[in-house]
Amino acid sequence: MNIELLIKILNYQKDGIVILDRNLNIKFINEFAKKILSLDGKEIYKKTFYEIFKDNYFETIISYALQKIDKNEEILIRNEEISLNDNVYLLNIFFIENHIVIKLSDVTPYEVYKQAKRDFVSNVSHELKTPIAVIQGVLETIQNEEDINQIKNFTKIAYKRIQQMNNLINDLLTLAKLEIKEEKINKKIIKIHNTVNSIFNDFSSIASEKNIKMINNINPNFEIFVDEQKFYILLRNLIENAVKYNKENGLVEVRSYEDDKYSYVVVKDTGIGIPKEALPLIFERFYRVDKSRSREVGGTGLGLSIVKHIAEAHEGKALVKSELGKGSEFTIKIPKV
Ligand SMILES: Nc1ncnc2c1ncn2[C@@H]1O[C@H](COP(=O)(O)OP(=O)(O)OP(=O)(O)O)[C@@H](O)[C@H]1O
Ligand SMILES: [Mg+2]
Repeated sequence: MNIELLIKILNYQKDGIVILDRNLNIKFINEFAKKILSLDGKEIYKKTFYEIFKDNYFETIISYALQKIDKNEEILIRNEEISLNDNVYLLNIFFIENHIVIKLSDVTPYEVYKQAKRDFVSNVSHELKTPIAVIQGVLETIQNEEDINQIKNFTKIAYKRIQQMNNLINDLLTLAKLEIKEEKINKKIIKIHNTVNSIFNDFSSIASEKNIKMINNINPNFEIFVDEQKFYILLRNLIENAVKYNKENGLVEVRSYEDDKYSYVVVKDTGIGIPKEALPLIFERFYRVDKSRSREVGGTGLGLSIVKHIAEAHEGKALVKSELGKGSEFTIKIPKV
């Protein structure tokens, strides 16, 4: 195998590779390493690695590695994580035939995943802790309570909290199943005019508290090619938000239209709206625009994440437009048969 081919192969690697001699002169640096370390030009071959990275984190690492060379250890540093320009790299330093080989592997996506997992566990624990604390308090109080009406009031509070935990667990299960694509999507052509009416009915008491008017502008003949149960969950979440995040005397409108390839369902409200900077985040699990505001109206921040997953499971999309203080419009785009 010739050396040029070898160099080409090293330049194709998605790991950064730097080869130094014992005096830390750079003997080879592949393209990916140049990118990671923000180095370019032939100049770098005239300098030592030490000169380039003086007073840098690398200097410490390299000096540490050099101490070990004398002990003739072949692997000097293994799997140390370092941060460079907002990315996380796994650093390995080997000593091979009088040369030091530095290998940097980008593990940022894995780190992001690990962080998301940590956030997820802490969010779920937090969401369960609050209702459990309330239920515990209620049960303690009831033990010494003799007034039957008080007991009834307390049990109502506990029941509401149990429902809250139940909703959270159901949402988590729905999301988990959608994420691992375990649940089959059983698509068929359905009409949704009546479905929207029945969801409106479920939220009618909350809507009337704020005098919110709900308008079903779905054409009774409008058809869409979806999994009926899943699409029901999707619509329910969007309509629930449109009512929950609405204002006194507000409006909720659901309408539909279509083009050659797609069917569209729009849920529009004249509510509090979503700030621009929050728009890219609202479909994330547990994200809530304003935690204190959202806590007032209840919810865990899973609804829109479920909406997005259901739309995507249909090869469709969930889109949003919103203006703070004026209202929001969610559009679901689903491919036709
Ligand atoms: N129609 C809307 N108008 C204004 N803000 C909205 C609207 N829909 C969603 N949001 C904002 O986006 C956040 C995320 O919504 P999502 O439905 O995922 O969670 P949630 O309503 O807080 O809880 P859950 O739906 O899980 O009960 C909400 O907390 C709210 O701040
Ligand atoms: Mg919601």
